[in-house]
Amino acid sequence: MISTEVKKAAEYVRERIGEQKRLAIVLGSGLGGLADALQDTISIPYTEIPGFPISGVASHAGALLAGHIDGAPLLLLAGRAHYYEHGNARAMAVPIQTLKELGVETLILTNAAGSLRKDVPPGAASLITDHINFSGLNPLIGAEGNERFVDLGNAYDLELRDRIRAAAKASDAVLHEGVYVWFSGPSFETPAEIRATRVLGGDLVGMSTVPEVILARHQGLRVGGVSLVTNYGAGMESEVLSHAMTMEVAAQGAENMMKLFRAIIADLNTNPL
Ligand code: HPA
Repeated sequence: MISTEVKKAAEYVRERIGEQKRLAIVLGSGLGGLADALQDTISIPYTEIPGFPISGVASHAGALLAGHIDGAPLLLLAGRAHYYEHGNARAMAVPIQTLKELGVETLILTNAAGSLRKDVPPGAASLITDHINFSGLNPLIGAEGNERFVDLGNAYDLELRDRIRAAAKASDAVLHEGVYVWFSGPSFETPAEIRATRVLGGDLVGMSTVPEVILARHQGLRVGGVSLVTNYGAGMESEVLSHAMTMEVAAQGAENMMKLFRAIIADLNTNPL
């Protein structure tokens, strides 16, 4: 069931962007380089789109961008709302449902994350292969219908993962992979939480993405995820974790991410999934 809000949002965006786009990418902290590489850009602030969230995180300007990268059409969501801002796990529901309504088929989510593995250092890119929802929250609580019982067996689409790995190889981008663990934030984890998470099979920790993956799978979108590692998990090194520090390291890893994403975008444009 599409809400009138989503219909209105999709109508508003469709009128502005014209041509349908099959690919959308959510830009996480420090991944603004993709927005800079966008051409024929049409930028629509979230504040103009019915039901879109207003993100208060300084580094997450909220705008839906339409355009081309190296000739390939796509949408970029520059900015996301996080659970920790207002305690709303459904904060990204309208944007994701709107993407579906606009004809988007594939959604790639990016984020900044802490690494639990010494061999995956700050600055590295890591393909998300699966997740552990450590928040106890779910964006589909309150949703109706049997579709809410979403299968997450292939949440991070197998074929898309293969294509992302191949794009990394072809473009010489360094790409690790691992399981992403969602903590609600906004405080960082404790060293004990990081140790526990590692024992449980986590490789990356972060404060976003998982609710969006669940919402996107609910809409039947094909989902992919890539983390940019900005720090080791709490207690793995003596440094004090801060948002400023994660932003600084994100900038250092940006070039590798850009290389990777240009290759992914070109490949999905040439050979759509
Ligand atoms: N923990 C949670 N979220 C994060 C981290 C972290 O260490 N780094 C970047 N986002």
